[in-house]
Amino acid sequence: MKTIIVTGGAGFIGSNFVLYMLKKYDQYRIINLDKLTYAGNLENLKEVSDNKNYVFVHGDICDSELVDGLFQKYDVSYVINFAAESHVDRSITDPEIFVKTNVMGTSNLLNIAKKYWEKDGVFKEGVKFLQVSTDEVYGSLGATGYFMETTPLDPHSPYSASKTGGDLIVKAYADTYKMPVNITRCSNNYGPYQFPEKLIPLMINNALNKKSLPVYGDGKNIRDWLYVEDHCSAIDMVLHNGRLGEVYNIGGHNERENIQIVKTVIGYLNENVDSSVTEALIKYVEDRKGHDRRYGIDPEKIKNELGWYPETTFEVGIKKTIKWYLEHKEWMDNITSGEYQNYYKSMYEKEGK
Ligand code: NAD
Ligand code: TYD
Repeated sequence: MKTIIVTGGAGFIGSNFVLYMLKKYDQYRIINLDKLTYAGNLENLKEVSDNKNYVFVHGDICDSELVDGLFQKYDVSYVINFAAESHVDRSITDPEIFVKTNVMGTSNLLNIAKKYWEKDGVFKEGVKFLQVSTDEVYGSLGATGYFMETTPLDPHSPYSASKTGGDLIVKAYADTYKMPVNITRCSNNYGPYQFPEKLIPLMINNALNKKSLPVYGDGKNIRDWLYVEDHCSAIDMVLHNGRLGEVYNIGGHNERENIQIVKTVIGYLNENVDSSVTEALIKYVEDRKGHDRRYGIDPEKIKNELGWYPETTFEVGIKKTIKWYLEHKEWMDNITSGEYQNYYKSMYEKEGK
């Protein structure tokens, strides 16, 4: 049995990935190392809590003693680093924790993995460090063109800058020590278990509660949407077949203006749940500082090399996602009580928003 350390496995994508892997494979022990910040939620993993191949460890990726202890206890084959501070708006108001977790935390994981995986300058066979990154490291596109793996890094927000820092340290370990690594950079994910500070679950939650739907700026910024399960299958393929040292972009040509997304959510809820959910709820608010205009991924490399393609079209994925939230109201109620209320007030209920 091989051991995988999955960091940030209690967050949105991480928990989808842990569930995906435990369902698909028998031969992996998954150690989920998660600090349980506001974004981590063990409720996401209820169905596997008794699985003999699953171990939860509550802790910080910056804690070298703890991470060292895990490598000492388990013969770790792979590290998949999902753990991060992940929300751009929070990075604008509180950038330091982003540098700490996304840069220093990644550096700590690499350092300890190297300690256990390298002997006399040579890495063990069959080990890999997989860094889960974002297309936001490439900056912002104009009306045309796509992000390719060769696109220069040009991050703008403290979030994307800290992810870039993490990626560059991973690259340095590959270039300097020949550490076996891959970096994946995906576009905006959506699907079950996403915390309602991100566009799609925030709009669903607000619409269901008849709160206004805050659209930043003119609503015409473009994101390239990827259903989370398709992201999980891409990571699975890169883990097993990705060429060492390579970066893979992950996306499915699903570009939409933000306002289109908001109107799609309204349209579905209006038709299927509550006819009083209408476009009157839309409220254009002050734009995000440094707001990247457009993201769009060119996924040709992962398609050609690994045969990956996204199975879920946006039309299917968004319906599945909205239905999931409708069927999991308790999940939403639980995470939006307490701390979330303070965040929401500070973000949206101040003057001008
Ligand atoms: P998330 O915010 O939902 O989850 C992050 C998880 O990391 C949480 O469980 C949190 O408790 C944990 N965590 C945070 N700091 C930690 C620390 N210091 N030590 C241990 N655990 C810690 O994030 P997500 O949306 O699931 O994103 C996962 C990864 O994918 C991130 O690296 C993010 O940069 C990347 N990514 C996300 C998207 C997206 O659309 N969500 C797109 C591209 C890339
Ligand atoms: P978000 O989900 O925060 O992801 P990211 O900033 O990492 O792309 O935001 C997606 C887009 O939606 C982004 O252009 C900002 C915009 N947005 C709004 O217009 N209103 C909102 O309330 C939020 C959270 C985002």
